[in-house]
Amino acid sequence: MQEAGVNLVSVGIFSWSRLEPSEGNFEFGWLDRVLDLLHDGGVQANLATATASPPPWLAHRHPEMLPVLADGVKLWHGARQHYCPSSPVYRDAAKRLVTAMAERYGKHPALAMWHVGNEYGCHVPACWCDVSAAAFRAWLRERYGSLDELNAGWGTDFWSQRYSSWEEIIPPRRTPTWPNPSQQLDFMRFSSDALLECYEIEHEVLKRATPEVPVTTNFMSFFKPLDYWKWAEREDVVSNDSYPDPSDARSGMRAAMAGDLMRSLGRGRPWILMEQTTNRVNWREINVAKAPGQMRLWSFQAVARGADGVMFFQWRQSRAGAEKHHSAMVPHGPVESSTTWRDVVRLGSELGRLDAVRGAQSRAMVAMLFDWESWWALELPSKPSTRLRQLDQVEAYYQPLFEANQLIDFARPGDDLSSYRLVLAPNLYLVSDEAAASLEAYVEGGGTAVMSFFSGIVDPAEHIRLGGYPQPFRKMLGLDVIDFLPLPADHEVALRFGDGALGRGTIWSEDIVLAGAESLATFSDLPLGGRPAITSHRFGEGTAFYLGTQPDPKTMARLLELACSSAGVEPTAEAPAGVEAVRRWARGKSFLFLLNHRDLWVDVPIARAGTNLVDGSEVHAGLVRLGPRDVAVIGEGW
Ligand code: GLA
Repeated sequence: MQEAGVNLVSVGIFSWSRLEPSEGNFEFGWLDRVLDLLHDGGVQANLATATASPPPWLAHRHPEMLPVLADGVKLWHGARQHYCPSSPVYRDAAKRLVTAMAERYGKHPALAMWHVGNEYGCHVPACWCDVSAAAFRAWLRERYGSLDELNAGWGTDFWSQRYSSWEEIIPPRRTPTWPNPSQQLDFMRFSSDALLECYEIEHEVLKRATPEVPVTTNFMSFFKPLDYWKWAEREDVVSNDSYPDPSDARSGMRAAMAGDLMRSLGRGRPWILMEQTTNRVNWREINVAKAPGQMRLWSFQAVARGADGVMFFQWRQSRAGAEKHHSAMVPHGPVESSTTWRDVVRLGSELGRLDAVRGAQSRAMVAMLFDWESWWALELPSKPSTRLRQLDQVEAYYQPLFEANQLIDFARPGDDLSSYRLVLAPNLYLVSDEAAASLEAYVEGGGTAVMSFFSGIVDPAEHIRLGGYPQPFRKMLGLDVIDFLPLPADHEVALRFGDGALGRGTIWSEDIVLAGAESLATFSDLPLGGRPAITSHRFGEGTAFYLGTQPDPKTMARLLELACSSAGVEPTAEAPAGVEAVRRWARGKSFLFLLNHRDLWVDVPIARAGTNLVDGSEVHAGLVRLGPRDVAVIGEGW
């Protein structure tokens, strides 16, 4: 570990059955030894609470703690994460273990951070068992207060679903056709909250025992089942696990996007890349290895996007068990001949030179609204088009801005947006009155917004907002949408811009009537030929752009460039294609990260001289050369 520059290790994540081999009998000797060894070697511990995989004895004695799927199938022990999030048996046992851990290790000098559970919801994000049903009812009573309110909120007169007692209510189990959408949406909220309660139980024990020790749990990038806005509020440090597919050309962009999300979830605080693989994973159909330099590049990318730590799953590649073919820092074979080990050692020493970057902040001028509830609601079945997927839409915005080196923060609808010059709202299908009013006020006060079709359609109950689509944004956008005309799967519509430029739209079209907005582009094909497709509207002091279709990538890039220039948003740097440029600031200093995603040499123009912290070399104003997948972190003006 010392050779690799390791200074923080996650310990004990899946060791409950070792720590408590039978009910109430704890065996800590082996962990004492590990923590002492780490401490003696100058390595700190991110100590896990070990509750992500209950021991077989717990499931054997209390099978009612096992999770059940929507169609009644029970998930048994023998893998991991086999617990019903609402199970009092699981929760009590977890609390007992964490209490014992906190007592034993709260004062251990190696303890730097607590790692609660692991990847909550990764395999079992929800449970439909009877215990969960009772917990769901309790959650609903809290939310609605009365059955009348619940019946109204769920629109239960439709299809004769009116409830006459709380006991009749169940989670949305397998039904003949779509279960009630408002019920499904509430079940998603409940399921995220149920797991958050598990985290909270442990968090409370740890905070009482060791108030000064930071607590985290590892996120999984854009993980649909958990509302990470709510979760991140309960963490001292946001941490993330990132496993981009090396065989997918969009992976670099996606990893950047996940990094931006983590920074935003922590409200700008530095985060930790908790897990990545050194090389291959074991869980795709084909586990393509990272290309030479890719692990280093993606590690630096995380730091560029706000991480102050880079870690791996896993230290030593195991000999047995389900993950023995997953790469590790220490491979099965001899380290001397391992390129992975060589890369790990190099990364460790290079990261060791970035101390000055710690705590540095980013300054994004662009925010993208992102909301888990809207994502859940948008992708519930029975919509105009199932081809409308939240993350595709987010990426359609993110990709061209990533390529143009525009830094993006993610924002929760309803957040104060006043520090941003440009706000993007890809398909904000569900929106609360407050969030809609906050976006409207932002534009009215001088902000620029870009919004896509099928936004502002429902309220938080998933009920249509009546009064014309998109009801809460009609004034801001200066238009009315008369109806939606989703496009068949392989269909495109032609777009014509005022300046004669042409483009194409996919997924969606709609019948727009202007009410103050101007048309930037029209549909050129029937049935909407000549009608507005893309519009802009001066509203108060600001401008709102609207997209009534999904423009092709080039057109999207052009539109976002227009929005950026009209909002006065500048890119971080002008860099050649494939070079990512991101800046962080700390204590009056700035750090320019240059990341070459291509496997070619590139010359990047540099405005300010400085020092490349990665190798200590001096960088002169002019051009800096980067090799294939090479990186530079330039302390500007040093
Ligand atoms: C997740 C888990 C790890 C391991 C890796 C494999 O991130 O947290 O325990 O299973 O996936 O990629």
